[in-house]
Amino acid sequence: MKNFSDILLTSVFAIYFVLTGCERNVDSVETSSPDAKIKIIFFLSDVGRAGYLINYSERRVIDSSFIGFDFQGDDSFKENFEIINSYSSSSDETWKTVWGEQRFIRDNYNELKVELKEKSEEGRTFYVAFRIFNDGVAFRFEFPEQNYLKALTILDENTQFKITGDHTCWWIPGDWDIYEHLFNTTRFTEINAISKRSHKALAQTYIPENAVSTPVTMKTDDGIYLSILEANLLNYSEMTLKVDKDNLLFQSELVGNDSGIKVKTETPFVTPWRLVLIGDKAGDLVSSRTILNLNEPNIIDDVSWIKPTKYIGIWWEMHIGKSTWDMKSGRHGATTENAKRYIDFASKNGIGAVLIEGWNTGWENWFGDHDREGIFDFVTPYPDYDLNEVVRYAKERNVQIIMHHETSAAIMTYEKQMDTAFALCRSLGIHAVKTGYVGQILPDGEYHFGQWMINHFTKVMKKAAEYQIMINIHEGIKQTGLRRTYPNMMSAEGLRGQEFNAWSPDGGNPPEHLTIVPFTRMLAGPIDYTPGIFDIKFDKYKKENQVNTTLAHQLALYVVIYSPFQMAADLPENYDGHPAFQFIRDVGVDWDTSIVLNGEIGEFITIARKERNTNKWFLGSITDENARVVEVPLDFLDKEKEYTATLYEDAEDSHWDKNPTAYKIENKTVNGSNTLKLKLAPGGGTAISFIPIE
Ligand code: NOJ
Ligand code: CA
Repeated sequence: MKNFSDILLTSVFAIYFVLTGCERNVDSVETSSPDAKIKIIFFLSDVGRAGYLINYSERRVIDSSFIGFDFQGDDSFKENFEIINSYSSSSDETWKTVWGEQRFIRDNYNELKVELKEKSEEGRTFYVAFRIFNDGVAFRFEFPEQNYLKALTILDENTQFKITGDHTCWWIPGDWDIYEHLFNTTRFTEINAISKRSHKALAQTYIPENAVSTPVTMKTDDGIYLSILEANLLNYSEMTLKVDKDNLLFQSELVGNDSGIKVKTETPFVTPWRLVLIGDKAGDLVSSRTILNLNEPNIIDDVSWIKPTKYIGIWWEMHIGKSTWDMKSGRHGATTENAKRYIDFASKNGIGAVLIEGWNTGWENWFGDHDREGIFDFVTPYPDYDLNEVVRYAKERNVQIIMHHETSAAIMTYEKQMDTAFALCRSLGIHAVKTGYVGQILPDGEYHFGQWMINHFTKVMKKAAEYQIMINIHEGIKQTGLRRTYPNMMSAEGLRGQEFNAWSPDGGNPPEHLTIVPFTRMLAGPIDYTPGIFDIKFDKYKKENQVNTTLAHQLALYVVIYSPFQMAADLPENYDGHPAFQFIRDVGVDWDTSIVLNGEIGEFITIARKERNTNKWFLGSITDENARVVEVPLDFLDKEKEYTATLYEDAEDSHWDKNPTAYKIENKTVNGSNTLKLKLAPGGGTAISFIPIE
């Protein structure tokens, strides 16, 4: 339990150190992580400016960084503050997840809350709350109800993260509309988000300045890994980070709208948490569950309908051009007959669900700059798709249908229809919806990640919970850990997914892509990457594109990339009779334990996960364009158990481009004292199932 001790710390630590120019620290409070490795100092300068810094293992990792806010029609929060009070407390609780990377999560931190008051007649106040975990520092701003701050319009939040060197950064541009950019690896001073503006394959993109999206991950020259992200994003705008090369700092830049407003709110309110993860190994970042600890506990009582699942779908066939979403082409994918074919395949192979896209009318005219309001209605099927019959057929075979709602970013249309659309799902016994937000947001002037849209995404998540619907969102806001409070928030795209390999004019996702994603995008939460393409070159449909990995790498992604909805993305005919498909049949989707065994950002990563409610373990290891040998001690396996390990490996001559589909399958009896030597081909990988010998 939380245990606030009201300790007045004001003026206790009068450590003086130089901040900027002639500004000096006059007042400070500090606190540490439970293991004492991380220390933060919160300070006020002699002009009453508030800031903080972070030390890790006695080394500075975030240097003196200021905070502040600009308001419309009110003076900024910048200087002239005094510390009124500080409160410290600590917490150590363990909670159980409904689903996830692990069954139990420890939430252990020391908290420091500093109350600041303006030295003015109005005496406006706010708090800065810090939570120091063993793997990072979180802080947020808490605005209490007060006379001189009621309704307020935030023009900017000015939170700085001053780094201590020209770190190597893995970043995507701070795009207000989309995350579907490749990750870039550069020094901080070489970040050039503006150069990413012209992107041919994006339906909508807006990069106003040289800023990055979070999570942005860094490595210092002395080998410390850092990532900046945000947690619990509700009724606020997303934070991008502006690059200030001269001062070597990131400064928050909230996503706005065309009227220049960032956030409209009223006191009392709290901002999302700003989180700095810190680790000695790159894998430490991936093992962190702190983003979930910064969200409120689950509020859904009956979770019996919330179930992680593997799924297939009438989906890849549209992306590679075998069929279309619309009917006019004469090659409509979502026909009753085709749906039944997928359902048969799912049922035969123990795949829990089938996604069907292009089932509803409107796809002839869904995409582009025209007025898209009213095009989709989410209840009217095309005449060659008998929705009731498909659902009946699936139910008979114990297969779930995943409903598809492509909003085409026409938000008012979707909001008007949402109740009707979800009620239809309920009447059919459908518990999962994939949503999509392709294109420029209507109404004009709003952006995908501004406060107005954040509130829309929250509305959808809550409304879906009322109708017992799980959500998988594409082109939506990144995850910020809300899945803890709303465990129906299953998965999200929020990156360049597999679809880019089907049609992107830049050749798709390079072999290194998925060796960066676990250390960046995946820190935010589950990813609907849609792995499992076996027909890597799909020459029959499209010659210009291909998947840029080996087949074994595709298998390893079921373990490396975490998602409670995990797609087997290829066409049923490409799986039929394929021995490697056994791994997809076997692999779990809900985990008791997850362990990052090794990894370097943009090079390789190996993760092992133990399935919930079975004693099976699964392992995935992937590499970038370089071949490598990875040694994996199996000491994570349960002691005193023997396992049949089935290894799905690259063949001797596998190569992501020259020979991507070659692989071999090998069975071994192993236990925890063995070490495996995995040979990964260029762009390759290894997937292993460990089935206990009972
Ligand atoms: C983009 C989504 O990412 C993709 O999965 C979907 O098939 C299309 N939009 C159509 O909704
Ligand atoms: Ca997409």
